[in-house]
Amino acid sequence: MKILRTVAELRQWTRHARVGGKTIGLVPTMGALHLGHASLMRAARESCGVVAVSIFVNPAQFAPNEDFARYPRSFEADCALARAEGADVVFAPSVEELYPNGPDSTFVDLPALSCRLDGQSRPGHFRGVATVVAKLLIAAEADRAFFGQKDAAQIALVRRMVADLRLPAEIVVCPIVREPDGLALSSRNVYLSAEERKQALALSRAIRQVEALAAEGELHSSALIQAARDAFAVEPYLRVDYIELVNWATLEPVETAAPGSLFAVAAWVGATRLIDNTIIA
Ligand code: PAJ
Repeated sequence: MKILRTVAELRQWTRHARVGGKTIGLVPTMGALHLGHASLMRAARESCGVVAVSIFVNPAQFAPNEDFARYPRSFEADCALARAEGADVVFAPSVEELYPNGPDSTFVDLPALSCRLDGQSRPGHFRGVATVVAKLLIAAEADRAFFGQKDAAQIALVRRMVADLRLPAEIVVCPIVREPDGLALSSRNVYLSAEERKQALALSRAIRQVEALAAEGELHSSALIQAARDAFAVEPYLRVDYIELVNWATLEPVETAAPGSLFAVAAWVGATRLIDNTIIA
């Protein structure tokens, strides 16, 4: 497995693979890799001729008060996991390589989507995500890029960006990988104390209750949101950021759930913000 640091090196590798008739799969990550990331690599390995995994803690998607400086970094272990999952390349550029003009670099902005869900409490976050994903898709000339449903709003944003810029990449969505007790895997779970780890289970409990209600035919947004609110109420120390039923493409709230609607929650557990969601069947 190769470790590449510059866009020029990645592009050269990509072109070589393409000349060899291989399709190019890209798995964008910020490192601190876990089995959720591994599931994306596995999906990429199954459907692409070559697989590149990017590891880049993207400063542009962190607000000034957020955890950019202390975001978990474990490059050696990440490379071992990527190698074990059959990645051909790890692309790990410096900040200067991806943002040669620093804050004056070119940005990709989707104003209508960027202010919804996580964008409400994380201003600038989705602008940073859209920008870095565009840079990575273009640099890798990816045929397919793999994302986790765990970050469902991010997927809406990436899909729209790819459509608007007419990028020739297919966006593949992979299911949420969970701990046996239901907690969605996240690089940020390492921040949780033992007590917070227990409180964090309220997110997946809320999602399960909503799934059960929807399966019984309850499709009104107010009833589904109330069920999630009740599940959160059991944990008085947990602070809800949002509970929303939205159209997965526009991220706009809907009154009634339809197949493909996104039910998403975000909550603060101590100083850690966690998210979870389900797609209505
Ligand atoms: P990161 O949080 O490292 O996640 C990388 C990819 O792994 C995302 O597509 C995310 O949805 C997926 N993922 C995370 N936890 C998962 C889980 N429990 N099950 C399935 N997939 C999971 O998301 C980002 O990085 C960044 O915003 C990025 C897209 C790399 C742009 O910087």
